[in-house]
Amino acid sequence: MDLFEYQARDLFAKHGVPVLAGEVIDTPEAARRVTAELGGRAVVKAQVKTGGRGKAGGVKLASDPDDAVEKAGQILGMDIKGHTVHKVMLAQTADIADEYYVSYLLDRANRTFLAMASVEGGMDIEEVAATKPEALARIPVDANEGVTEAKAREIVDAARFPAEIADQAVEVLQTLWTVFVKEDALLVEVNPLVKTADGTVLALDGKVSLDENAEFRQPDHGAFEDKAAANPLEAAAKAKGLNYVKLDGQVGIIGNGAGLVMSTLDVVAYAGEKHSGVKPANFLDIGGGASADVMANGLEIILGDPDVRSVFVNVFGGITACDAVANGIVQALELLRSKGEDVSKPLVVRLDGNNAELGRKILSDANHPLVEQVDTMDGAADRAAELAAK
Ligand SMILES: Nc1ncnc2c1ncn2[C@@H]1O[C@H](COP(=O)(O)OP(=O)(O)O)[C@@H](O)[C@H]1O
Ligand SMILES: [Mg+2]
Repeated sequence: MDLFEYQARDLFAKHGVPVLAGEVIDTPEAARRVTAELGGRAVVKAQVKTGGRGKAGGVKLASDPDDAVEKAGQILGMDIKGHTVHKVMLAQTADIADEYYVSYLLDRANRTFLAMASVEGGMDIEEVAATKPEALARIPVDANEGVTEAKAREIVDAARFPAEIADQAVEVLQTLWTVFVKEDALLVEVNPLVKTADGTVLALDGKVSLDENAEFRQPDHGAFEDKAAANPLEAAAKAKGLNYVKLDGQVGIIGNGAGLVMSTLDVVAYAGEKHSGVKPANFLDIGGGASADVMANGLEIILGDPDVRSVFVNVFGGITACDAVANGIVQALELLRSKGEDVSKPLVVRLDGNNAELGRKILSDANHPLVEQVDTMDGAADRAAELAAK
């Protein structure tokens, strides 16, 4: 999960990384009070989850409270690389003498963590890496040792940070490492880390990406979720504990096992080429032990998607045998009907594996008008695509 700058700044402040005071607002008028409280001047910063806000006109200096209202009005509602600005952060202004870059990230290719640092801060670091690779120091960080003072000094030396800020930079690097570890982050980036005219080192921008796999031990992280931006179907699925991703096609997909669902998406996309180009409408893995409840929850989400025109239920019986899944489908349809849900979209079911014969018999006996069975995965994908194209 990527955070907004103001959320990253809150995490920095919590662990003691030096940042400037600021406040987030969502109306221009609120800028007047906040700017006055910040001392009469402020930087108005678009809060969108993309970089290059400065270049796009999303970071503006306001010289007084009235000016801040005007600048906030210009930035709120702005489109930056496809992201609409709904919030701006007003921050104290820094008198910048120099801009640097520092980050920690998970280096998957080398199975370690990586520190990156450069005296070429402020601009796109991708550009620095491409045009002046020697200006970007890359130092591996051992997960068990972390960023000790010696490691921080190694980073500072490799990046050739000026001597007069070396001690402050060492401290910031160690504190940022604490943020990285304690918050279970996959990325912590500060660009720019600045030296002010009076020689103080400050983090002026922050980018943090948190590891969602660590949510169970990070109870505070739920509050960072951007509920306004979440897809409502994905949010509903998450609330039900389902592994669901909304896609932009018309064939709803339910399967058991992530690998099976992935290949189901492929065969449906392929079959769809023959049927007006219909595509999978979602990824949904209901897992190994698919009970009637889980099946009902999954069907409810998929049938509630207005884009869905047919549903492909692709199940390979394993630990949970096909007869249990078939009973689950029958009960799920009954459950949804009794809840008054609109169950009017055709379902193509393919059962294979453990107790497939029995499962198919249960579905045939139930004789549900919307349920059709096809024995092969390719055949079922083709039929579901055909129904969606109708
Ligand atoms: N509080 C601040 N005071 C003064 N200048 C700032 C402040 N925050 C940002 N800037 C300037 O604006 C530039 C862009 O801001 P930044 O937060 O890095 O956004 P982005 O990286 O999305 O362009 C910075 O490199 C810095 O020069
Ligand atoms: Mg920046």
